[in-house]
Amino acid sequence: MKKERNELMEEIVSLSKRRGFIYQGSEIYGGLAGTWDYGPYGVALKNNITSLWWKRFVDDRDDMYGVDAAILMHQNVWKASGHVGGFADPLVTDVKTNKRYRADHLLEEMGVDPKGMTLDKMTEVIREKKIKSPEGNDVSDVRQFNMMFKTHVGALEDDASISYLRPETAQGLFVNFKNIIDTFHPKLPFGLAQIGKAFRNEIAPRDFIFRVRELEQMEIEYFVRPTDWKGTFEHFLAQQKEFLTKDLGLNTSKIHVVDIPEADRAHYSKHSVDHEFDFPFGQKELLGLAYRTDFDLKQHTEHSGTDLSYYDEETKERFIPHCIEPTFGVGRLMLAVISDAYTVDELGGEKRTYLKFAPSVAPVKVAVFPLLKNKPQLIDKAQEVFKMLRKEIKGVVFDDNGNIGKRYRRQDEIGTPFCVTIDFDTVEKPEAEVTIRHRDTGEQERVKISDLLTYIKTKIG
Ligand code: GAP
Repeated sequence: MKKERNELMEEIVSLSKRRGFIYQGSEIYGGLAGTWDYGPYGVALKNNITSLWWKRFVDDRDDMYGVDAAILMHQNVWKASGHVGGFADPLVTDVKTNKRYRADHLLEEMGVDPKGMTLDKMTEVIREKKIKSPEGNDVSDVRQFNMMFKTHVGALEDDASISYLRPETAQGLFVNFKNIIDTFHPKLPFGLAQIGKAFRNEIAPRDFIFRVRELEQMEIEYFVRPTDWKGTFEHFLAQQKEFLTKDLGLNTSKIHVVDIPEADRAHYSKHSVDHEFDFPFGQKELLGLAYRTDFDLKQHTEHSGTDLSYYDEETKERFIPHCIEPTFGVGRLMLAVISDAYTVDELGGEKRTYLKFAPSVAPVKVAVFPLLKNKPQLIDKAQEVFKMLRKEIKGVVFDDNGNIGKRYRRQDEIGTPFCVTIDFDTVEKPEAEVTIRHRDTGEQERVKISDLLTYIKTKIG
């Protein structure tokens, strides 16, 4: 039987907390909406996702340059990029409580698709359908709300000291375009890549880590000759799919490629395609791909007075390159991976919950157990096996807490693909063997210690 969406999300949120993946931000103070903290297994899962991304999109390519730009940037960056003028969501205010709500969310909840609607059209539909706020009151006309977090740099709080926490990592790449050209002299096409935090003062953070106010992005700005944009766009679309399915092991049938109509595209984009995913709360945007043309480099050339054109040795022409931008939200990928892996089944006549992670993303790949915790010979041997594996494999833990059944259940909930148990046979027999228990089937097999490392390495890829 299919679980209710909300019930399933509650179980995922609860497991994430219970097992040390994700906690509410500032929890002991009642929480800060739209912020989440990652615990040890959340950090490990996140690191696995970001490392796989960096490997595919940076390390395994010859045309990509890594950058780590500052989060605080000159206010003119955001004027040039169009974010000061236009990085906004449609908002209505409850006329009695003054609480603010996303107009497009209210429309969606009433079964109206807000895609492509202007602000006036949204207001018209809200009036026509007599849509109220969640408190049942009338709402204001729809207006824009700028989502950037504003702050001041330095001791003076005047207009000149205004800065913003970056709402996308992308601009940190555009403003370093000239630095990379001057120091590395790359030939077109080439790209700049970055992983880092971004901040958006979302009106309605919701759905756990899906829509948050402090997020992490993995972005590429890939520069091409203007005539080459289409082929590059197709290349990155295919790469995004491969990353999701081959690297992260996401279920292909839950991934949907969606063309974004002009009215819904960001102001800088001439063509956008999103990868959407079947989350427990519905099919939603997971990551994006945009053809940003020469918009950003042109804008920064105009606003900074620095020439960001490129001299093409091959064609002997000087021009502003066009840009393809693959963009990925780390938190949304984490949620996709966790919700896709979340499985409830029966094993040995008992109900169990486990995370069916692909070994590539599993925070713990192998857990090593001594069968009993009060037998020094078992503990010594288990420690020896644990240290041997840990030297070669990232994500190996030693666990002697509770009986074997409890340890299996704990490792299942963390999504550990392999548990290795050291028993009396292991220490007594000349050809020492261990028991390997497989997470998904619960099946067990005996493997020689001398073959163990190769066995595990082959299985985890
Ligand atoms: N540089 C382009 C850009 O930022 P975007 O579609 O606004 O484009 C890119 O964001 C990705 O960042 C999204 O596909 C999503 O994965 C993630 N993202 C955006 N806003 C988010 C939020 N409030 N919470 C979590 N992830 C978010």
